[in-house]
Amino acid sequence: MERICWKAWMCVFLGLQVCCGYGAFIDYKAASSSHGDERWTEWSRWSECSRTCGGGASYQTRQCNTGHTCMGRYIRYKTCNTQECSDEELDFRSQQCAAYNDEKYENRTIEWEPVESSSLQEMCSLVCRVKHHNFTKMLAPKVLDGTRCNKYTVDMCIAGKCESVGCDHEFNSTAVFDRCRVCNGDNTTCQLMKGRRVVDPRQSGLQDVMLIPTGSHTIKLSSKDLGSTLGIHEMGETKGLNEVAGPAEDTKYWVGGALAYYRRFRSGREQILIDNTIKKDLVVTVFLSDSRRTREKLHYQYLYPLTNIWKNRGWSTCSASCGGGKHYRYL
Ligand SMILES: *[C@@H]1O[C@H](CO)[C@@H](O)[C@H](O)[C@H]1NC(C)=O
Ligand SMILES: *[C@@H]1O[C@H](CO)[C@@H](O)[C@H](O)[C@H]1NC(C)=O
Ligand SMILES: *[C@@H]1O[C@H](CO)[C@@H](O)[C@H](O)[C@H]1NC(C)=O
Ligand SMILES: *[C@@H]1O[C@H](CO)[C@@H](O)[C@H](O)[C@H]1NC(C)=O
Repeated sequence: MERICWKAWMCVFLGLQVCCGYGAFIDYKAASSSHGDERWTEWSRWSECSRTCGGGASYQTRQCNTGHTCMGRYIRYKTCNTQECSDEELDFRSQQCAAYNDEKYENRTIEWEPVESSSLQEMCSLVCRVKHHNFTKMLAPKVLDGTRCNKYTVDMCIAGKCESVGCDHEFNSTAVFDRCRVCNGDNTTCQLMKGRRVVDPRQSGLQDVMLIPTGSHTIKLSSKDLGSTLGIHEMGETKGLNEVAGPAEDTKYWVGGALAYYRRFRSGREQILIDNTIKKDLVVTVFLSDSRRTREKLHYQYLYPLTNIWKNRGWSTCSASCGGGKHYRYL
């Protein structure tokens, strides 16, 4: 239940959470039905955005006119400057830790880096660690407004509390990405590409099997084979995942601007998963340690934006990396 002070100035002065020590609070819901908004002053102008890019927050306030009882918030927030930062070296939280870098400890400058907490209470305080040392300290009780609550969401800290943010960058919005990675979309702007490819069993060593075009996401590759190794590289690159002989281990690998997870199961089945959108064409490879008679199959599936399908119809030109002079056809 939300409680609020009987005099608005107390809230403004002390902050909503702590202002009611008097015992003079009233129940928000009960009171709001009998009092209107007209007792408040107009909202002030929006404050300057807390960040210049990457999503910050701005607020406005209002006061309760003297002699009145006011219900509701005296402060409200909106998001601002939500465009991505172009070449930000450190994320916002790292910058805040690094601001303490000039403090000397035993005559040496110490460098701070952020420690992320999964606890709801701590994620909006500035907890930092001395680089290369196991020394952690809370450097500020609250991170600056607009700091992400953690690495994995766009939710942001406002006045030391984690506030939910939708994919449309609005506070408390229910907007989410659809399966095509469109905010508030209806799942119709991408197509599931699915099928299998046969691996040439006579050709030992590394062979290119298929291409996955830029813009694809939710990629899943798997093979049931026992003796081959599934790999992947960026088109035109010579280095890639699992492209040498030898048993492959479960691993993570950055490719095309996304993280690929490689896994080999006990049964011998292999899998590569890439969740995020790839920003380069990727070539899927198979490494056969020796030639054999059985035909092996690579199963693939990924989601591809429909707009790209019309753009990319037809055959790709062969790149130098195609070795055997293969062409790929966008499926
Ligand atoms: C720090 O440096 C000063 C001057 O260089 C020196 O006198 C002092 O002993 C040093 N302190 C430590 C803890 O190393
Ligand atoms: C770091 O210190 C904490 C206690 O201060 C301890 O529990 C933890 O095991 C230490 N970690 C390492 C890697 O030394
Ligand atoms: C989001 O909604 C919650 C619950 O209604 C509210 O307490 C909070 O202040 C809202 N956040 C923002 C930034 O408006
Ligand atoms: C889109 O698909 C997901 C499952 O992939 C489903 O949960 C969601 O409700 C769908 N959204 C719409 C708008 O159809």
